[in-house]
Amino acid sequence: MDVVAALNDTQHAFDGVAPAYHQSNIENALIEGMRRQMWRAVETYVPRGGHLLDLGCGPGTDDVAFAARGYRVTAIDWSPAMVNEARRRVSAHRVEDRVTVMHLGIQEMEWLRPATFDAVCSNLGPLNCVPDLDKAARSVAERVRLGGVLVASVIGRVCPWEIGVYAARRDWARLRVRFARGLTAVPLEGRTVWTRYYAPAAFERAFADAGFALVERHAMGLFAPPPYLQAFAQRHPRLVAMLQGLDEIAGGWPGLRSMGDHFLVVMRRE
Ligand SMILES: C[S@@+](CC[C@H](N)C(=O)[O-])C[C@H]1O[C@@H](n2cnc3c(N)ncnc32)[C@H](O)[C@@H]1O
Repeated sequence: MDVVAALNDTQHAFDGVAPAYHQSNIENALIEGMRRQMWRAVETYVPRGGHLLDLGCGPGTDDVAFAARGYRVTAIDWSPAMVNEARRRVSAHRVEDRVTVMHLGIQEMEWLRPATFDAVCSNLGPLNCVPDLDKAARSVAERVRLGGVLVASVIGRVCPWEIGVYAARRDWARLRVRFARGLTAVPLEGRTVWTRYYAPAAFERAFADAGFALVERHAMGLFAPPPYLQAFAQRHPRLVAMLQGLDEIAGGWPGLRSMGDHFLVVMRRE
């Protein structure tokens, strides 16, 4: 796959969904559950007042929340339409003094000053869209101060719900998607997002080689279903709330923490 063409396809796909993205996400209890876990990790590992770099910020949902919690944020995204949405949201919440939104790909981080940030965060899979994770990891390492952290939620390979759903439908091609090697085409409203699925160990290796050490990892969407099963979650809200609680308790246990729709990883720059 030609890397430039892949990046362009992905940009085009996210441009297409940008206007409705924030609203549809906040109406999805499964995404909201994952977001809560990410925010809690940031609050645990980054002192208030710290400067965050948000990679693949989308429509700025997290950035407004981070600003409300006392952080300064530099937010970047590769989709110009997402950047517009994020700027609009930041301005509507009057947090322009704390949040700067830039149209910049993760693959272009050299435009940002080195060793500036207390933490780099990335929520709900932007790092899965990067063609060269080793290069991105080195760039992240150069931009976070020593002792700073990476807090990222990443789309994983082994999602038991997904395996169950597609096995029940006998849709073996769809079931195999997460096990593909390299960038794989994932449809998004008629367009294509080029995505690389990671086993946590492979993702963490790229950052370990760049100078990070693992602090913690937690499965997300392991007992709770993945976000695209929103209709199921709407029919069974109490059951899903219970499963989300189980994710929060048991998602960090050895064995379980390598699975799930996403995994949340915290690594420290040494
Ligand atoms: C699933 S969305 C998540 C958005 C946001 N982090 C959130 O939690 O709502 C993925 C985002 O990553 C962005 N993205 C994809 N590839 C990127 C790249 N190479 N550089 C920067 N952003 C990218 C997309 O434009 C999109 O906004």
